Amino acid sequence: MTELIRVERTDKKKNKPEQGKLGFGKHFTDHMFIMNYTDGRGWHDPRVIPYQPIALDPAAKVFHYGQTIFEGLKAYRTDDGRILLFRPQLNFERMNRSNERLGVPDVDGEIAIEALRKLIEVDRDWIPSEEGTSLYIRPFVIATEPELGVSPSLEYQFIIIMSPVGAYYPEGVNPVKIYVECDYVRAVRGGVGEAKTAGNYAGGLKAQELAKAKGYTQVLWLDGVQRKYIEEVGSMNVFFKLEGKVHTPILNGSILAGITRRSIIELLRHWNIEVVERAITIEELYEAGRDGRLEEAFGTGTAAVISPIGELNWQDDPLVINGGKTGELSAKLYDTLTGIQQGRIADPFGWMV
Ligand code: COI
Repeated sequence: MTELIRVERTDKKKNKPEQGKLGFGKHFTDHMFIMNYTDGRGWHDPRVIPYQPIALDPAAKVFHYGQTIFEGLKAYRTDDGRILLFRPQLNFERMNRSNERLGVPDVDGEIAIEALRKLIEVDRDWIPSEEGTSLYIRPFVIATEPELGVSPSLEYQFIIIMSPVGAYYPEGVNPVKIYVECDYVRAVRGGVGEAKTAGNYAGGLKAQELAKAKGYTQVLWLDGVQRKYIEEVGSMNVFFKLEGKVHTPILNGSILAGITRRSIIELLRHWNIEVVERAITIEELYEAGRDGRLEEAFGTGTAAVISPIGELNWQDDPLVINGGKTGELSAKLYDTLTGIQQGRIADPFGWMV
């Protein structure tokens, strides 16, 4: 597809929210990107248009069979006025792995990045600049063919919307309390756990709500077969510092390959800190916690970046980690990664675009 991206600007600009009160994903910019896919024709009609509702046939397959995928990445405004994206090509590579798993046609990564550049150019004054804020970008694909047969849709829309955001959790970078979920599971190998698709998140909501009612911010997911191995924390990857080394569950087919996860591993190795990707049981983690070998625990994701874990609760057995405080390494990782992302710290990896 070499079609030019058409731009239709709004004549009704919205008032921008106060930067100190953004929250996460509550406000949307003035424009959105959209393009259509039809069988035989491929992707076509790429356009930036005023942010608006989309009209879909009630029989659109996305509503019935959940054929949809999404991505999440952020744009930052630096103190000297540059606009930076964090490793966007990795998002669009992962988007196509998710697409492949869900039977959705590929979106050309270069076109996706071009679309994003155009959209950001049009809405550049929406990128917040205060520390801890950014412009969260949500690309997604939905199956729009109006047909109830269970088969891959022959029509899709690829859309990008953008939202100025502050911290994901109200706790910010303060430690959260996490409930170890033993009944519900997020994913199994061979399922869609590796894909960034809506069903994984919908399936997690009930456990999340039950944990909240018990006073926990999120759940720690265990593997779907034995409820023994640690997989993810909420919608984030999870890391543990044990006796100076950092351990994280190995990507086993049911865990999402986080871009923040990958970047944290690369950053730690750059600092000569050993990172071990392996199967980790909840039992050994508790043992390490009991005898003082568990030094820190934290989740990683695009939305929250680093979210320290101050307490776990597994089968009514609470385990306080690092006195419930943010660990030194978690804080250093947060400061370094957000520093690179916001252009305050030199980027030795060539991550920023
Ligand atoms: C992230 O950590 O970026 C996530 O995947 C959470 C998102 C679904 C809001």
